[in-house]
Amino acid sequence: MRQDFKQLDKSKTYLITGAAGFIGYYLSKKLLEQGCRVIGIDNINDYYDVNLKYTRLKNLEHFEQFTFIKVDISDKETINNIFKEYKPNIVVNLAAQAGVRYSIENPDVYIQSNIIGFYNILEACRHYPVDHLVYASSSSVYGANKKVPFAETDFVDNPVSLYASTKKSNELMAFTYSHLYKIPATGLRFFTVYGPMGRPDMAYFGFANNLFAGEPIKIFNNGDFENDLYRDFTYIDDIVEGIERLLNNPSVGENNVAHKVFNIGNNDPEKLMVFIETLEKCLSNSLGREVQFEKVFEPIKPGDVPATYATTEMLQQAVGFKPETSIEEGLQKFTDWYCDYYKVK
Ligand SMILES: NC(=O)c1ccc[n+]([C@@H]2O[C@H](COP(=O)([O-])OP(=O)(O)OC[C@H]3O[C@@H](n4cnc5c(N)ncnc54)[C@H](O)[C@@H]3O)[C@@H](O)[C@H]2O)c1
Repeated sequence: MRQDFKQLDKSKTYLITGAAGFIGYYLSKKLLEQGCRVIGIDNINDYYDVNLKYTRLKNLEHFEQFTFIKVDISDKETINNIFKEYKPNIVVNLAAQAGVRYSIENPDVYIQSNIIGFYNILEACRHYPVDHLVYASSSSVYGANKKVPFAETDFVDNPVSLYASTKKSNELMAFTYSHLYKIPATGLRFFTVYGPMGRPDMAYFGFANNLFAGEPIKIFNNGDFENDLYRDFTYIDDIVEGIERLLNNPSVGENNVAHKVFNIGNNDPEKLMVFIETLEKCLSNSLGREVQFEKVFEPIKPGDVPATYATTEMLQQAVGFKPETSIEEGLQKFTDWYCDYYKVK
């Protein structure tokens, strides 16, 4: 771990965009539990069930140090006013249109939220200087790279979805703002994040929904188990721990610019079919009866990549941490939450 590593500074004001989202909610909660002041913003869009977003917000409301503002980050004037009024020290930009497949059908919203919205955050950080801007990138920037594990120094100029292009663009934009306006910034390439209260648009959540709706699950791996897809599945608590440790520790990266990009992934990829079998087992445990998915195999989807696998050495060197939660442990927590939340038997 670096010599000058700083613990979470509880005297600072943290602005978290996408606070009603999966990762934003858990990060906000963890900071609030430790007594930090958190300004959460989110446009509560209906990309997935908004009830889940309201449930998350309800869990944050009782913290005195929490302020929630419903706003779209593409609204430049309101974003500037929020920075002016609340003077955040640390900004964590998690608001974005997520999802690889959705970006094939709905490109506009990716440009609006991920490019224009992120540009507004950068501009606000320029005009109302902050100690650190931390922002979400994605493992999808590695595209169809063959060399595994994926390292932060790898060539990532071949994104295979518009979603990935917007995330790579964010890294370039942040570098430029860091260089020109001395904004300390850190980009985080998250690797398939899962857990309780997660995103219903993600496969593991959809599989559980299908089971209880009596529908088969579609597996986009060509039914080829020898050459199955691999994913570095990362449990939500590990992602939050990684972000928290980086918050007060901006780094100096290439060309002496205060901008750096880190992978946060499990560093232990699983075959998609192993993940699905584990999910079946965990659901059976939660329900106290044996359940099995009815499986339909389909060709891999455009924009999907065959494998994701993170190196975590850079993260470990910086903050002395690497994600380690096993899928058995993480998925059990997800299925226990799911069965309780949706009251399924
Ligand atoms: N979950 C993952 O596996 C994963 C992997 C890689 C990267 N990421 C990135 O991490 C970040 C958080 O992801 P998540 O899984 O929590 O997603 P999420 O969709 O649950 O959270 C994003 C939140 O941002 C809000 N939002 C979207 N556009 C907005 C806008 N224009 N203005 C204000 N709010 C807006 C949404 O309402 C949502 O609540 C995103 O940037 C995502 O691209 C996530």
